[in-house]
Amino acid sequence: MSERFSLAGRTVLVTGASSGIGAHLAKVAAQSGARVVLAARRVERLAHLAEDIAAQGGSALAVPLDVTCRDSVEAAFNAAEEAFGVVDVVLNNAGIGNGQRVLEVSEEDWRAMLATNLDGVWRVAQCAAQRLVRAGAPGSIVNIASILGLRVGTGYSHYCAAKAGVVQLTRSLALELARYEIRVNAIAPGYFKTEMNDAFFDSAKGQAYINDAVPLRRLGQLAELEGPFLLLASQAGAFMTGSVLAVDGGHLVGSL
Ligand code: NAI
Repeated sequence: MSERFSLAGRTVLVTGASSGIGAHLAKVAAQSGARVVLAARRVERLAHLAEDIAAQGGSALAVPLDVTCRDSVEAAFNAAEEAFGVVDVVLNNAGIGNGQRVLEVSEEDWRAMLATNLDGVWRVAQCAAQRLVRAGAPGSIVNIASILGLRVGTGYSHYCAAKAGVVQLTRSLALELARYEIRVNAIAPGYFKTEMNDAFFDSAKGQAYINDAVPLRRLGQLAELEGPFLLLASQAGAFMTGSVLAVDGGHLVGSL
């Protein structure tokens, strides 16, 4: 059974691989047998991660990527293909997450949020799918949404709108790409402590919030995203497309 979760022989491209969820799942993909393309803007961090993966016997390539720029996305996929062949699994993870009250969001902040968290996911998924279709190869795209794409939270109107867009984009891509054997699913994480939110979750206010709002009364551990990611990325999830998996300690079913 565990063979069905293997990524041996796959080329997995991870966006936003320089920290947090992306860095963690990139290592997991390598441990599961994949050749991994680490893509983000902070290339020096990626180079360290690539060295770590190589030291553990894995295979990784670091490439610069800004998901807000079409040329950068195409260049990253070109570099990936040159090194490892067509990218058949994408972890579409890059994102930003600063909070701001709805009355204070500027035109510029709104655009920046949507440009990274929605347009970027679309651009990377489309680029991957176009190349897979040209190569006649099947594939799996895993988008990182959020529980804030399914419910709302104060101070996150732009983030919630972008992540809700990722949920609907995931379903639309799944519908149109199924005929090419390209599956598209999303993970909707609850709260995991990363560079995006560590200041809040280290504070007494942050800890009290988690205790009150999350039925399991704790933050998620990055390791708890491994199973859902491998399920969606590998043959274990071969009949899954258009799904949105919440990994949130029950946050979405918290008592009203
Ligand atoms: P993080 O800040 O550690 O990671 C985000 C990564 O995306 C960073 O490596 C960053 O450099 C990269 N990135 C940002 N803009 C980029 C761009 N234009 N081009 C390429 N890379 C870019 O935070 P974390 O938590 O690991 O976030 C990963 C994803 O998970 C994000 O999409 C986030 O919205 C999502 N998420 C995180 C949750 C959490 O509690 N940590 C909860 C729900 C969703």
